[in-house]
Formats: sequence, C-alpha cells, structure tokens
Amino acid sequence: MQAAGANIRVPLQRFGLLSRGLLATRNFADAATTQDVKPKAPTATQIPPTYSKSSLKMSGWQLHSYGDIDELQFSEKLKLPQIRNSGDCLVRVRTTAVNPIDIAMLRGYGSTLLNKMRCDPCDDIEFPLTLGREFCGELVQMGMGPCKGELKLGTRVWGVVPLSNANGAHAEYVVVPASCLGPAPKELDVSEAASVLYAGLTAWSGIYISGGLGGPCGATTSAGGGANKRVLVLGGSGGVGTLAIQILKSQGAQVLATCSENAVEMVRCLGADCVVDYTNPVDMEQLSSYAPYDMVLDCAGQGGQQAADLPYDFRQYITFSSPLLANIDKQGLGLGALQNVADLLRTNVRAVSQRGGLVKWGYFLPAAHGIQFLQRLVERRKLIPQIDSSFDFKDLPKAFERLRCGHMRGKIVVKL
Ligand SMILES: NC(=O)c1ccc[n+]([C@@H]2O[C@H](COP(=O)([O-])OP(=O)(O)OC[C@H]3O[C@@H](n4cnc5c(N)ncnc54)[C@H](OP(=O)(O)O)[C@@H]3O)[C@@H](O)[C@H]2O)c1
Repeated sequence: MQAAGANIRVPLQRFGLLSRGLLATRNFADAATTQDVKPKAPTATQIPPTYSKSSLKMSGWQLHSYGDIDELQFSEKLKLPQIRNSGDCLVRVRTTAVNPIDIAMLRGYGSTLLNKMRCDPCDDIEFPLTLGREFCGELVQMGMGPCKGELKLGTRVWGVVPLSNANGAHAEYVVVPASCLGPAPKELDVSEAASVLYAGLTAWSGIYISGGLGGPCGATTSAGGGANKRVLVLGGSGGVGTLAIQILKSQGAQVLATCSENAVEMVRCLGADCVVDYTNPVDMEQLSSYAPYDMVLDCAGQGGQQAADLPYDFRQYITFSSPLLANIDKQGLGLGALQNVADLLRTNVRAVSQRGGLVKWGYFLPAAHGIQFLQRLVERRKLIPQIDSSFDFKDLPKAFERLRCGHMRGKIVVKL
C-alpha cells in the first residue's frame, strides 16, 4: 500500500497550501515531504487518483465588474480556489443553481458590506468574483481541521457557499468550510441536490432563527418544531416558498399559502392546507378568516413596510426582503446601520399598533444544524425539491435570464 503522505505531497504544493503558512496543513505537508513515512491507511485528506495534473486550471464564470448578465464571463483558465483554513474543503462541482441573490450581486447589491467581509484587509481587491451559492459535487480535498466523520474523499456532497466567499459555485471547483457541507441525500439526483440548501436554509432560518417557531431548541439544534402553529406563506411557488411549505407541514403546522392562479395546484400538492390566488382580491379576503397567524412568512419579495397594511393580524411577520444591505450600499456602513435600526423600528411601531405583531428580517444562514435538519426531511421524503428549469453550464447566462423573467416555480439548476 502506498503511503498517504506520499500521495498528498504534490497536490498540496499544487494548491498553494505550503505557501499559505497555515499551521494545520503545513505540519501535515512537512511530514509528507519525508520519504520514510510509514505506510498507513489512506487518511481523509488523500487525493483521489482521478485528480490529475490536468486539473490545475478550471472552467467557470466570473464577473470583472458589476452590471447586467453580459458581465458574466466564461473562462477555462481560472485558478483553482485554495484551501486557506484547516476546516475548508475543496469540492468538484457537478451541479449548481441560480438564485435571486446571484442576479442582485451581479448588479452590485450588497457590495459595500460583502466586500468588507471578503477582502483581505491588505489587498482591497473586489474582482474577479464568482457567483453561485449552492452545489452538489464530490469532495476532493480537505484541510486538516476536525471534520465530520462521514465526510470521506470522493463522497457526493451538497453544500452552500457563504456570502463572504468571493469564489462561488458557478465554477468547476469551490472551497467552503466543512460546516457548509454534508453528504448529499441519496434520495436526490445530482440536480435536485443542488437546489435545496440555499433556499432551504433561508426558509429554515426565517422559521426557526428569526421566527423562533420551534423555541430555543428549534433555533440551536436540528429539532425543528412548530406543531399546530398557523403560518401563512406569501409566495408559496418560488424557491424559498416551496421549501418553506414542506418544512412547516413536516412539523405539523397548519399552512396557508399565496401564489398566482397557475401555481395553485402545484402549491396544493406541496401540502398547503389552503392556497389562495393573490391576484384575486375576493379570494384574498379568505385569509382574514384564518387570522391571527402565528407567523406570516414573506417569500414573495414584499418587504416589511407593507406588513402593517395587511387586513389580518399576526404575531410575527418575517420577510426575506429587508433593506439591510441596500441601506449600507447607499449610505455606507455607519449611516446605513443607523438607517437599518430606524427602518426596523418604524416598521415595527406601525405593525405592532395596527396588527399586533412584530416584523423581523430573515436571512440565509449557512448553519450545519440547518443542513442536518433539511437532510433528515429529504431522507424521510418530507421535502421534495421543485425544479423550475435546468441549464447546461455553458448556458449559465440563459439561466440568469430565466430568473430575471420571474414567475419561478421552484429552482433553476445548472449542470456542469
Ligand atoms: N434575505 C435572504 O438571505 C434571502 C435569501 C433567499 C431569498 N431571499 C428573497 O426571498 C424572496 C424569495 O426568494 P425565492 O428564491 O423564492 O424567489 P423566487 O424563486 O423568484 O420566488 C418568488 C415567487 O413569488 C411569487 N410571487 C411574486 N409576487 C407575489 C405576490 N405578491 N404574492 C405571492 N407570490 C408572489 C412568484 O411567482 P409569480 O410572480 O408568478 O406569482 C415566485 O414564484 C426573494 O425576494 C429573494 O430575494 C432573501
């Protein structure tokens, strides 16, 4: 048997790990350069034999400036992203997805705060930027940090890319922290597995972190919760809404949902107890008869301002369309933060006095226990991804066009 250390020496150098000064990896690499390493069973960091020298460059889509879809530039000569922390993993991407955040980031949305999170303080380089927040693929390399036991090289994984990461999943390879990965559920094919986590973790975080529907346990563990709560999902037909409905139903909540007329049947099939066409004012009146709601979950881009004007009461209204990043883009970090506090206070004063409930902002959160929660639902077949459309990697701009046209019915996936 060949020593694992002997296998790893060249790839570690190739990925720049030796020059990065990372103690966790350097120790291991130093050992790997010693020729008399004792043979041992392959370790978790061993590079699979299929990972050849030809992989030095990869293909992917990059932005070199903000703008429209034509700013997306394809190249087959991109540098592979590097493992910089001992807890990072390198994944060969097989499928990815396009989300509304990708279009927004393409136009520069959130760049003020996200750049601060992304850039090394010593080099203020904003571009190139690779979009793509989720993927399914194979784990090809791991740092030396503590990793979940089930993550072995070659494992088919699904994962998300934190917003602070400048190298997203619209490329052949992506590096993410191990906490952002998990084994892809075998119940899903490679396309479905790339379509769940970004929208699913957004829905999960809105329901359990912002909304606290499962109490402290629901927020801090993968326990979920929310039995017998009554939740109205605005926008049940999109990426987040289709998953939010299934999450809530799996926990025994009573779920009402709104969508366009042509999506009513689909949303009903997801398990919603009552589905209302939001384009029909008469139908919408029904919603008042079920009030008050324990939670109204805005997956339709409505925002918090209009919550006070709804004709029904709620205990809390969670919107995924907050002005947080836009305020900071407009006014800078300091003034933007103050504007956010002012917006939230103003919205809440109106909502509490008129509808008796709070307005909160919900966000995508790349939490390991959120991933575990979603994984369990998929394995129990309580969560079935809805695919709106599928594109080849070379046609990524067409996937962006599809999203820009709106009226999504589930998710857009892209195959590499
Ligand atoms: N804060 C975060 O971290 C975060 C993360 C993910 C998403 N988001 C935001 O959350 C929202 C949902 O995301 P998504 O990925 O699900 O978007 P999406 O896939 O585009 O879905 C939006 C859905 O809402 C429907 N819709 C539009 N207007 C509606 C209305 N007035 N009432 C009911 N349904 C309506 C749309 O279909 P029709 O137009 O045909 O009705 C579509 O099916 C977006 O605004 C997105 O930007 C935020």
